[in-house]
Amino acid sequence: MNASPRKAAITGHPVAHSRSPLIHGYWLKELGIDGEYGRVDVAPEIAEEFYRNFSASGLIGANVTVPHKETAAKVCDWLDGAAKAMGAANTLWLDDTGRICGANTDGLGFLGNLDQLAPGWDNSTGSALVLGAGGAARAIVWALLSRKFTRVHIVNRTVEKAQKIAEEFGAGTFAHGWDELGTLLGETDLLVNSTSLGMTGKPPLEIDLAGLPKHALVNDIVYAPLETDLLKAAALRGNPTVDGIGMLLHQAVPAFERWFGVRPQVTDELRTLALKDLGVIS
Ligand code: ATR
Repeated sequence: MNASPRKAAITGHPVAHSRSPLIHGYWLKELGIDGEYGRVDVAPEIAEEFYRNFSASGLIGANVTVPHKETAAKVCDWLDGAAKAMGAANTLWLDDTGRICGANTDGLGFLGNLDQLAPGWDNSTGSALVLGAGGAARAIVWALLSRKFTRVHIVNRTVEKAQKIAEEFGAGTFAHGWDELGTLLGETDLLVNSTSLGMTGKPPLEIDLAGLPKHALVNDIVYAPLETDLLKAAALRGNPTVDGIGMLLHQAVPAFERWFGVRPQVTDELRTLALKDLGVIS
């Protein structure tokens, strides 16, 4: 393996659409680090072998995207708490002894975004309501429990998926169907949309915010469009809002720091660069 430049990559199947090379490439250039960040498409039939023999890849670390996050977690010699809780790793590195280590930084990305754009948002950690029960919801539930939210309600069309997450995380997490949304909104301090509803090309997220307390923070992890109908409706009635692009950018921060030894910043310039690349703004 070449010691220099240090090389990391996004791995998954497919990887062509990933914005990770843009994000890490921006930081490598800004910080003047002699490193590279590429793309490695890992076919499903060789995924387990690829991650098990990660040290042979020539990479010092990698991001992992769908559909390999669970496979990557399975072969790791060490996992951080988030990856263990989610059974999925999105960040890999080799430690000094050559062990494969894995982390899941999606939840940290969610927290980093709110910490940056709504400082103090977790000063009073009451009741959170998460719409959706996919991989993103699982990371968000983990993140909210790590900040000591006392009640995390998960509302999903397929209620069984919400129940599975609530069972996994245990005390303080509750599963519901959409029919309970109206009642739940009244006791919500933080509302997060983690479904794909409201995304360009997907069905709209139709939700009546009437019962939502005016202090409740509203966050949408959808970032195309940047100001979703949910965020528009929330802002119109005076609720504080945070958009979703920051979660994508902040989940990359701990990975970059791990591989290249410097903690990078999520700047307005990076935000704009990513949004332009995604075609969200021109
Ligand atoms: P991710 O891993 O990014 O979270 P996902 O696993 O595909 O993505 O999850 C998408 C979420 O959006 C799910 O909660 C899904 O609800 P189901 O579990 O019932 O499928 C939700 N979702 C997608 N389309 C929806 C729709 N038309 N109505 C309600 N919920 C929808």
